Formats: sequence, C-alpha cells, structure tokens
Amino acid sequence: MTQAHVPTDWHPASWQSRHAAQQPVYRDRAHLESVLAQLSHLPPIVTTWEVENLKSQLAKAQRGEAFLLQGGDCAESFEECTSDNVVQKLKILLQMSLVMLVGLKKPIIRVGRMAGQYAKPRSADYETNDGVSLPSYRGDTINRPGFTPTDREPDPTLMLRGYERAALTLNFVRSLIDGGFADLHHPENWDLAFVGKSALATEYHKLVQSVSDSLEFFEAISGEPMHETHRVEFFTSHEGLHLPYEQAQTRFLPHRQRWYNLTTHYPWIGMRTADLNGAHVEYFRGVANPMGVKIGTSISDEHLQQLVHVLNPHNEPGRLTLITRFGAKNVNTHLPRVIRAVRATGASVLWVCDPMHGNTETTAEGYKTRRFDNIRAELRSAFRIHQEQGSTLGGVHLELTGENVTECMGGARGLKESDLARAYKSQVDPRLNYEQAMEIAMLIGGRLRTHD
Ligand code: PEP
Ligand code: CO
Repeated sequence: MTQAHVPTDWHPASWQSRHAAQQPVYRDRAHLESVLAQLSHLPPIVTTWEVENLKSQLAKAQRGEAFLLQGGDCAESFEECTSDNVVQKLKILLQMSLVMLVGLKKPIIRVGRMAGQYAKPRSADYETNDGVSLPSYRGDTINRPGFTPTDREPDPTLMLRGYERAALTLNFVRSLIDGGFADLHHPENWDLAFVGKSALATEYHKLVQSVSDSLEFFEAISGEPMHETHRVEFFTSHEGLHLPYEQAQTRFLPHRQRWYNLTTHYPWIGMRTADLNGAHVEYFRGVANPMGVKIGTSISDEHLQQLVHVLNPHNEPGRLTLITRFGAKNVNTHLPRVIRAVRATGASVLWVCDPMHGNTETTAEGYKTRRFDNIRAELRSAFRIHQEQGSTLGGVHLELTGENVTECMGGARGLKESDLARAYKSQVDPRLNYEQAMEIAMLIGGRLRTHD
C-alpha cells in the first residue's frame, strides 16, 4: 500500500473537532480517560490480515462473484453473551449461508452483527415515563436498560466489559470453526433442536443431503478432501457509533502504512451519523477497514456522491459498502436514483440491501415490529431494480436470531399481531426468528431472484 492512501490531514482523534451525533455525556471525564487508556493497551479483537482478506472478498461481491450475508441482533446484550446464544447465531448464519450458496452458486461471505454490536443510535436523547425523564438507553457499552437514574447514567467501565465480551464471543466462534463445527461435511452440527417440526426443515434437510452428496462426489473423483470447504470463514461487524471506543483501538500498522480499527473487521456508519461534516465520517475516512454506510430515503444525490468521494477517494475495491434501507414503499423511488447517483461518480461500491430498517412499525399495543411481506417485498425489489439498472446487489443485511422469538409478523407460520407478546425479547428492533430467517435465505437462493 502506498502512502497516498493515508490522508495527511487525519489522525485518530481528528473527529473530535467535528460535531459527534448520538454520543453519551460522561460526567466523570477522568474515569472516561482512564478507561480509554486501558482499552487502547489491550490486544486487538481482529487482525489486519483478516480485515484485508475480508476486503478482498467484498471486492469479489462488488463484482458479482460472491454474496454477502450480514446478520445478527439489532443490539447484542451482555446478558445474552452465553455459549448457547453464540452457537445459535452461528448455526442460523451457517445454515442460511449454505442455502444461499447452493441457490446462488457463488461463495457466501459470512459476517455477524456480532462480537461488539453494543452501541445504539436513538431517536430521542431522553425517555419520559410517568413524567420522569431519563437519558435514553444507548446499548450495553454505554448504559443500562432499566429505567432508573443509576441505570441510565453512562458508565465508561461498560466499554471495557463490552470489549471483553466481544473478545469472548469471537474467541468462541473461532474455536468452534477451528474445531470443525463449520465444516461443510458436517452440517448436522448446525441443526437447532426445535426446528424438527418446521415445514422448512424438510426442504433444508434435502438441501443438506444434496450438498453432502456433491462433496462426496467431488472428493471421490479428485481423490482428495475438499480443503476449501473444511474452513468456513466468519467475520464480525458492528455500527461504528461510539467514537471514543472506536478510537481507542485505532492503530497504525507500519508494515501496511495504514491505520486500522481493530475492534471489528467491518464497521458501518449508521443512517443518523452519516453527515458529511460530522465526526463519524471524519473518523472513518482515515481507517483502512472495509466499511458500510446505511442509506435512507432522506439522502440527497450530492450527499451520497460526496460520501463516496470522502470515504473511498482512491476507489479501492471492497472498501465501501452502501447498505440501502428504504422500506418496501419507497425502494422503487429511491433505489434507481441512488444507483444512478453513484454511477455518475465513476466509483464502484458494494450494494447491500437492508430490508429491515425501512420497514419498522409500531402496533397499537406498542410493539415495534416488521411485516415479513414488506421485508420480502423490499428485497425482491432490490434484486429487480439492480438488475434493471445494470447494477449488482451483492449482499443482504438482516436483523435475526436463531431463537424462536415472535418479533416480526408473518412468514411461513403466519405470525399475527396477537402472537407478538408470546416471545418478544428484543430491547431494540424486532428480529427475524429462525424460521423467518431461513425463509429469507431460501427466497434469496431461489425464487427471489426472479421477477414473479
Ligand atoms: C441498525 O442497523 O440497527 C440501525 C439503527 O440502522 P439504521 O442506521 O439504518 O437506522
Ligand atoms: Co436495528
């Protein structure tokens, strides 16, 4: 890499001279500084080899030669950092990737919203209940969900606890994968106990059988095991929201002559923090990680073109992902517009569809939910529109869980509004449950790509 890739007017703290949206206010500055000093001395969660490997795979997705599956919780919680939870999330992502691999016939890049997805943007700084106003809950690395002044006080120590849990999560994922859990020869490892009864299970097991058969076939004719398929790779991502945390693990790697954020492989900038002059864009333009930006209906063509220019001035392949989240109602109007706007810059990006965040609604009883039909409709439109525009949809960004929750309505089991109360667990956005997530994977692998 040449020196030209490092902006000369940038350093890891240069964002501090810009307006930083969505940040908590810490009362005890000395405590904050001491935590950040500790954080910056800890070993990193990821390495630059992995980060650069992911970037080259994302470059393939950008060219239509691979497909990105990015998924996980809206927000991870400390309480749910358990072996069961990590295994379940890994299982659902592995199962989905297998279904998509067979259907799309291209490599699937697996990325969890995992191992560090702990900070959340909020629409209001304060939450008011029965006349009492307290700071909003901003995710487990910032404050606590309970509605008391102590719970809602931003606590710097939580950043250390979050960093440790991110490391524990990724350590367990790596061990599972290295130990053979993700070996394509043994997809039975990924079965989830309650799935047996599901209608989708039969279809999935048929598919698994056909994968095992083809593996055996290839190995029989080549006389060798398929090493490539033994090693499934898995990457992490989180919203790069809480800038002091992100800055603390930003390092200059002399052998690469570039700065990296080593808290995660693949951070993204949320829709609410993508201001051109804001602190988030300033921070992220200087790090070499591949990165995403969420794109909603309110973005103008000029803003988007500037973002592409500022975040990827050298048009580096795999560097910039645009994650569109317009909603089923608006995707037809806005997606062709933003594809054309980016094309006019001459730069290449990876286009990913997030069919979740533009389709959120609140029921009369106050549940935040999403309709499966809207999620499917936005995804289907995204595939169609990219094709019509001569562009490529290179991935999907989903909020999902391997558990049997009832947070989104619809899907094969036809979950209704009255079902939501049964197993609604999310503190923030509603996730696809296991069956709904598998249904989306099957749709991507099959019918969704056609125009029906
Ligand atoms: C999210 O991904 O959880 C999120 C808040 O998304 P967006 O920035 O697109 O609203
Ligand atoms: Co969300």
